[in-house]
Amino acid sequence: MVKIVNHPLIEHKLTQLRRKTTNTRNFRANLNELAGLLAYEISRDLPLKEVEIETPVSDTISNELSQDLVLVPILRAGLGMIEGIASLIPDARVGHIGIARNEGTLKPEPYYEKLPVGFENAIIMVLDPMLATGGSASAAIRSLKDQGARIIKLVCIVGAPEGVQKIENDHPDVEIFLAALDKRLDENGYIVPGLGDAGDRLFGTK
Ligand code: PRP
Ligand code: URA
Repeated sequence: MVKIVNHPLIEHKLTQLRRKTTNTRNFRANLNELAGLLAYEISRDLPLKEVEIETPVSDTISNELSQDLVLVPILRAGLGMIEGIASLIPDARVGHIGIARNEGTLKPEPYYEKLPVGFENAIIMVLDPMLATGGSASAAIRSLKDQGARIIKLVCIVGAPEGVQKIENDHPDVEIFLAALDKRLDENGYIVPGLGDAGDRLFGTK
């Protein structure tokens, strides 16, 4: 259930994210643009309904999206993906899940959650640039499912094999979208080659 989305623009923008000299401003811009490019692929199978409309010329039957969409960024770094996706799907509502990975144990520590009313009937896109051990994404998906969510897609920029394996084990029904599947995790749980600490680079906190 993992899909690596290939496109020359995705590869180009990912290179800007990976480069350690990319500053906060350019990191933020490239992350949002990448998320927008991924959105095109993620939304490929969204359900449609027929509606009757009038064009300036005649009546016709045309298609519109038929199901609510909810974006759920995992704080903080997932926030950097919202604008890019919402620019293509402006009616999407947004929930937030705050999870910090404990730097010693690498275990996820949830600290905040606010979800839109009726989210359980929507198609939910969980957003996080980094899928490392997979602990944070798996915990977010578990929380959504425990509250009734049924259709969940996980959208990340860079994944490690360990994280993909964890999501496939814990949530085999969840489709995973990545811009790149990297080699491995290092001894600190960072993705190699990766792009460093996405939250710190996005917000300029280090
Ligand atoms: C990072 C990243 C993911 C998580 C990935 O967030 O944005 O949420 O680590 O690691 P995992 O797959 O091993 O759980 P972090 O906890 O550093 O928080 P931040 O976004 O606030 O910097
Ligand atoms: N979180 C990040 O921000 N980067 C990694 O490489 C792993 C976890």
